Amino acid sequence: MAILLSTKDGTMPTWRDALLALDGGLDIRMFPASGPAEDIDVAICWSSYDMAELRRYPNLKLLVSMGAGVDHLLRPPGPPPGVPVARLKDVLLTSAMGEWVLLNVLRFHRQDLQYRAQQAARIWRELPAPETATRRIGFLGLGELGAHAAGLCRVLGFTVMGWSRQPRRLDGVQCFAGTDGLDAMLRQTDILVCLLPLTPDTRGVINARTLALLPRGAALINGARGGHVVAQDLLAALDSGHVSAAALDVFEPEPLPADHAFWAHPRVLVWPHAASITIPRSVAPQVVENIHRLRAGQPLINLVDFSTGY
Ligand code: GLV
Repeated sequence: MAILLSTKDGTMPTWRDALLALDGGLDIRMFPASGPAEDIDVAICWSSYDMAELRRYPNLKLLVSMGAGVDHLLRPPGPPPGVPVARLKDVLLTSAMGEWVLLNVLRFHRQDLQYRAQQAARIWRELPAPETATRRIGFLGLGELGAHAAGLCRVLGFTVMGWSRQPRRLDGVQCFAGTDGLDAMLRQTDILVCLLPLTPDTRGVINARTLALLPRGAALINGARGGHVVAQDLLAALDSGHVSAAALDVFEPEPLPADHAFWAHPRVLVWPHAASITIPRSVAPQVVENIHRLRAGQPLINLVDFSTGY
């Protein structure tokens, strides 16, 4: 039995060392040096390229995402039939995303883009003082990441709302669900934060129709997936002034092509999918636990529900 590690980003040795530090007996192979295909029972992957590859391993019994999201593993051709998928739930992933959301909420709330533009032009001018309690932050997605970031905004005293597929209850957060709920929340949202999983239902959720529901001057923060946003619709809303600014960590495709309009847009903050980066040392315990559980025939943890896609 062996574990296949596969990612294109050069982090494979760090992953291997983090897993071996917890169980030195694990046989870990780094793609493409997977050895005999029959050996592999667990694959730990990042990027859609791996999916067709995985059909080569006849004894594969568990697929582990290297991130919180699993859309890259579920999109066609998807995992080999019958192979469960586990995702990562990690305190550092969650807190880093919370920090990134707060950073950008505060930049937009405190008119930082306007002050930077004034600085560039050496303009000394006070803008109207922003009021925290009346600034309405609307979260798309109230899972692990969304609920945490919403809580941070609440602690700072913002008005916080959240929308999720299933109705949720969160202390101090006005919760919305369903299509009507989505529209109702958007109509009252000054800063929209997307932390949804990307599924066929949520693809393109931020589009001309939904952006038009936001009050004029609203800002967008997307730390989820590029596929949630219809880029042309967002650019049109920015150019018309309906949307005042956007902080974007995720794009489709990634890397963001060098000639994309987002790069040079004065009111778009571009991040290279770095809002919350998986730290192998931090997530290794849950991955090793799942490997041990699998091999001992015990129930697995953090499994993805294929019916919801997350
Ligand atoms: C990163 O995007 C992740 O899914 O963890």
